[in-house]
Amino acid sequence: MNPASPGKVCTSLNFTHLSCNQRLIVTVRIYPLVIKSTNGKKTVVAALRVSGLSKTFSNDKKALDDVSLRVENGEIVALIGASGSGKSTLLRHVSGLISADRSSAGEIFVFDRKIQSGGSIAREAADIRCDIGMVFQQFNLVGRLSVLTNVLTGLLGKMPKMRGTLARFNKQEKQLAVRALERVGIVDKALQRGSELSGGQQQRAAIARTLVQGAKMIVADEPIASLDPSSARRVMDILSELNRSDGITVVVSLHQVEYALKYCPRTVALRDGKVVYDGPSEALTPDFLSELYGAESEELFLPGLNPSPKKKQKRTRVTNGAGKRRNVPATAANALA
Ligand SMILES: Nc1ncnc2c1ncn2[C@@H]1O[C@H](COP(=O)(O)OP(=O)(O)OP(=O)(O)O)[C@@H](O)[C@H]1O
Ligand SMILES: [Mg+2]
Repeated sequence: MNPASPGKVCTSLNFTHLSCNQRLIVTVRIYPLVIKSTNGKKTVVAALRVSGLSKTFSNDKKALDDVSLRVENGEIVALIGASGSGKSTLLRHVSGLISADRSSAGEIFVFDRKIQSGGSIAREAADIRCDIGMVFQQFNLVGRLSVLTNVLTGLLGKMPKMRGTLARFNKQEKQLAVRALERVGIVDKALQRGSELSGGQQQRAAIARTLVQGAKMIVADEPIASLDPSSARRVMDILSELNRSDGITVVVSLHQVEYALKYCPRTVALRDGKVVYDGPSEALTPDFLSELYGAESEELFLPGLNPSPKKKQKRTRVTNGAGKRRNVPATAANALA
């Protein structure tokens, strides 16, 4: 049974019977199905529920327009859309980092706990955020700290402030961080400074931090946009593996549609702050994607996306005004140079 299937439970039992001392070791693995019982009625708790969310920035730009979305526990969902379509804004709302319009009745629940509603962030937001592992395009590691310490900062939300401020981590916590680094394949970098890692390694450290944090949902905003294809695949493989084997819910915004198709059975597409598609990734059509991305569609690698595909353009990496790096066609790079 696929553990990522919403609403399904899967168990596996291992029995080891040691007849000499009659010890029975039982390992039970239950994939996450969170069920709430209210007045005898059982309901499946969604990892994320967004309803009627709108956001207008001070410049009157409507970045989100009545967005509603439900992500089941254990799903891995891609969020796609052209630049400026509202992906980051939506993910920042989900993490309770910004609040929606006061005039809207927008609400967001994370594992059935309200993180914001009616334009106000809930008092418990910091606590709810402990369940959300955030991964950003810009890695967000502290360059001068060791990779191990960076990963250990995932514990800060859960430990006494003083111990956290002094970065006093005990042996058990350090072991937890080492195991997390092992899982993302960079345990050999544990004692190096964050700034000494490559982009892909830094992103893996950021994911290890969410593991140490014990996040039940990873919200990743373009985690692979600055990476070369092989590092990007590695990072997506790790997110996918954590989703499959640990049942961690993943919501990941991606500029590169081919990764959404490869790694995420479900895609949500935004255009001008509105959800314009929510369904199976495999049902996305080249015509829809071409329309979704407009002038940016030539950046997509999908064969047959453009009505009259020209020979594949040489691509290069550029940094935009906001310091974000992205692969763009060489012609665009020349224009930006
Ligand atoms: N702090 C802000 N103040 C004013 N406008 C903002 C702010 N943040 C985002 N916007 C605007 O909101 C819209 C959505 O931006 P957002 O960053 O969410 O898009 P995105 O889909 O993440 O784009 P990209 O793919 O380039 O990262 C854009 O028009 C953007 O200019
Ligand atoms: Mg963005």
